[in-house]
Amino acid sequence: MAKIKRIGVLTSGGDAPGMNAAIRAVTRAGINNNLKVFGIRQGYEGMIEGDIIPMDSETVSGIIQKGGTFLLTARSKRFREPEGRQEAYNQLKKNEIDAVVVIGGDGSFTGATIMSDEYDIPFVGIPGTIDNDLYGTDYTIGYDTALNTVVEAVDKIRDTASSHNRIFFVEVMGHEAGFLAINSGIACGAEIIMIPEEKNPIDKARKFLAERARKNKSSIILVAEGLDDGSAMQIAEILKPEFPHFDIRVSILGHIQRGGSPSAKDRIIASRMGSAAVEALLDNQKSIMIGVVNDEIVQVPLNKTIKLHKGIDEGLISLAEGISTFGAPK
Ligand code: F6P
Repeated sequence: MAKIKRIGVLTSGGDAPGMNAAIRAVTRAGINNNLKVFGIRQGYEGMIEGDIIPMDSETVSGIIQKGGTFLLTARSKRFREPEGRQEAYNQLKKNEIDAVVVIGGDGSFTGATIMSDEYDIPFVGIPGTIDNDLYGTDYTIGYDTALNTVVEAVDKIRDTASSHNRIFFVEVMGHEAGFLAINSGIACGAEIIMIPEEKNPIDKARKFLAERARKNKSSIILVAEGLDDGSAMQIAEILKPEFPHFDIRVSILGHIQRGGSPSAKDRIIASRMGSAAVEALLDNQKSIMIGVVNDEIVQVPLNKTIKLHKGIDEGLISLAEGISTFGAPK
């Protein structure tokens, strides 16, 4: 394999706090290893459009503490088509880019895997998503910050919920996974946590409300998006007529969960992963994701991260129940 001299870095899919720290680490580690580094703006869209900028150490100065991604991001429809990928390849060739670091989630890694099968371009992935739903890594960049954002918001909702003696259904992001919901729920002492990994979570909420009726107390019911039972709003609408004596409110936290200055943990993970991605490319690795398992950097085949499912730790579900006021006496 020819020696890699020029690498591209891009962010793709939903942004996540800490992506800038990862871009910075890839850029600086690349330059410090005598590579030329290029930023590909707007993810795969920018690859197709040739929206490619040279990066130096100064370009990435003062961004480690910033949320979002200064390279911009997109969910590219065109890249899903062979013609789009052909154009993207032409642009990489035109800019003499030998390898690409992709910071994103499973959709972004699917794109990378397909393109590296079609064309001889090594891709290395860095997991960046607030959902933490990627197989092969304990943490994804942005998850820790989002977790703290949710906890801060729910603590505030708790103040008003208890003042009015209300039941709040609070919806959090997570795509089809309950990582954000289960861990933020534990951290803010939610009475009930509804996640897609559990069967019939609405029944759990129903039972809880029936029990709560006797105690007449305010409560937080944390709802992961992506439940078969529907959104927090829909679930609340189903349950309201069954419990007319409760003052029920719904709060959807939405995109505030994706913003904000990254936590120290996210900055550190992003820096470690960015540097490890460059090392992997210099080692002639391709089609792998850099992950972190038991606080050690690992390399996982990209296709495994897409095909295999990362399960929720069942222990967290029992923990949440075991320390809730709703936990049945043993
Ligand atoms: O994957 C990150 C994420 O924030 C999910 O939690 C959420 O379902 C989705 O992106 C929202 O995407 P968009 O910003 O495109 O609405």
